[in-house]
Amino acid sequence: MSVRSLRWDGDALLLLDQRELPHREVWLRIQDWQGVAEAIREMAVRGAPAIGIAAAYGMALADGDWDAAREGLASTRPTAVNLAWALDRISALPTKSPSSILAEAETIEQEDRELNQRIGSFGADLVPRSANVLTICNTGSLATGGHGTALGIIRTAHAQGKVAKVWSCETRPRLQGLRLTAWELMQDGIAFASIVDSAAASLMRAGEVDIVIVGADRIAANGDTANKIGTYMLAVLARFHQVPFIVAAPTSTLDPAIADGSDIPIEEREGRELTEIGGESVAPENCPVFNPAFDMTPGDLITAIVTENGVFLAPYAFAKAPLALP
Ligand code: MRU
Repeated sequence: MSVRSLRWDGDALLLLDQRELPHREVWLRIQDWQGVAEAIREMAVRGAPAIGIAAAYGMALADGDWDAAREGLASTRPTAVNLAWALDRISALPTKSPSSILAEAETIEQEDRELNQRIGSFGADLVPRSANVLTICNTGSLATGGHGTALGIIRTAHAQGKVAKVWSCETRPRLQGLRLTAWELMQDGIAFASIVDSAAASLMRAGEVDIVIVGADRIAANGDTANKIGTYMLAVLARFHQVPFIVAAPTSTLDPAIADGSDIPIEEREGRELTEIGGESVAPENCPVFNPAFDMTPGDLITAIVTENGVFLAPYAFAKAPLALP
């Protein structure tokens, strides 16, 4: 099963509001680029590929205001390079009009759906039989054009009968794992248990994790990978417990212009994400908070990086990110 979380409707972008899931399926109808920018910033749409696709549709709503729209959309979330990549594709169009931009946005979305199937097939070959797979955040249909990256591999491996169980990290503080990955896994009938992020260590020590598969927001030329906060912790644990650690992402997530992860901008979000649960404050008033949304996993902790072009092993040396499927 593959949910579509965004859809074009005549003169508007329809977005499934991921802040409301899993309890309510609310569709936002957005008719200007500023609305798309706000939806990305506020995480109504999230996940690196989905952010890029939404931004491309946002440009189709810019009504000739291309430069302001490009700048406004690009500044919404700094870590996921798919955003700049999609906007670059729109900028590179020989003629810009609402219809040519819309066609390109639809192509980007369609390509993403197709290449996720390829990531799924390549990655499933790395999954052992009867595997207990640990993942973090949401990298599924909601985060992409469909199928998913890390979750796409899990889906494909599950269809091949290889997945015994998924351990799904809840993913503090926005709970993408507990709310969104759990929702997708339940719809697919894949056996799983949600865990608090800090349960990963003892599960690995107990031999309950055979492979870790995660997504990415930006991958530097040397394989250093920015992904949801907590990913680096999982990579360190995986190395200590000798569990394979796999990163799955489309080539649009590669940023070969950045030599290593130290130059990847890490988004910091407001403290309220930590101090409030369900809109209720749970911390002392004015509690100081540091809330980075992502962390950086060094490439040498990553067993393999799976893209639509195949499985890459360390040491990584990504020279260029092709714009389209080969
Ligand atoms: O803050 P989010 O929810 O946008 O973060 C998402 C992730 O970290 C994903 O792992 C990544 O974007 C890949 S989604 C296919």
